[in-house]
Amino acid sequence: MQTATRTGYSLTQIVLHWAIAALVLFQLVFGESMAEAVEAAEEGEALSAVDQTMASAHYWVGIAILALVAVRLLVRIRTGAPDAIGEGLSTKIAAGLHHLFYLLLVLVPVTGLMGFYLGDPWGEIHEVSKPVFIVLIAIHAGAALFHAVVLRDETLKRMLRPGRG
Ligand code: HEM
Ligand code: HEM
Repeated sequence: MQTATRTGYSLTQIVLHWAIAALVLFQLVFGESMAEAVEAAEEGEALSAVDQTMASAHYWVGIAILALVAVRLLVRIRTGAPDAIGEGLSTKIAAGLHHLFYLLLVLVPVTGLMGFYLGDPWGEIHEVSKPVFIVLIAIHAGAALFHAVVLRDETLKRMLRPGRG
């Protein structure tokens, strides 16, 4: 493992980061259709064609996220990641947040599957992921933009351009 010696992310890591981020945003924006589908099934009501399609998309996009995260974790364990730029508490918070993201990226699809096949409380637990993800993404993206605009360091650039190992 080269965990501490890397200075950048590989192309694979960068592509996976942005692909997973885009798919998670899709899930957060359109997740309500799946909630509608579950409710309609429970109450024996009809479901609109749009909600039906989006609920099905929610299922498959969620499974795609789980598969991509499995690949991403393997790559991460094999190649490591560069140390956070800067020093002190903020780098520890950043590292903690990144680990928390990985945990959520596994737990949220798993609780989604459990909610789908087993019902509540898993569905309810799964739904809590929405506000949690929104708050964490706001902090994470805000920090990335702060690095780019105020500190003007390489943090955002290295998640856009592959670096040497
Ligand atoms: C990272 C992946 C995922 C994210 C971010 C996500 C996010 C969401 C969101 C935002 C909602 C709507 C919550 C609301 O309306 O308050 C939802 C509902 C739901 N999702 Fe996911 N989801 C993911 C993966 C999955 C997967 C893989 C499944 C498996 C089938 C799934 C099944 C469900 C179910 C069944 C509901 C409705 C829960 C209920 O009403 O009890 N989700 N999800
Ligand atoms: C659902 C959305 C997102 C998730 C789940 C996510 C997750 C992650 C994770 C887990 C890492 C750590 C990578 C590692 O060290 O292995 C990371 C790094 C990074 N992310 Fe995100 N991210 C998301 C959205 C964004 C957005 C919108 C931006 C920019 C505006 C962004 C910018 C960055 C940057 C610059 C890094 C590198 C930090 C560093 O090198 O210290 N991310 N992200």
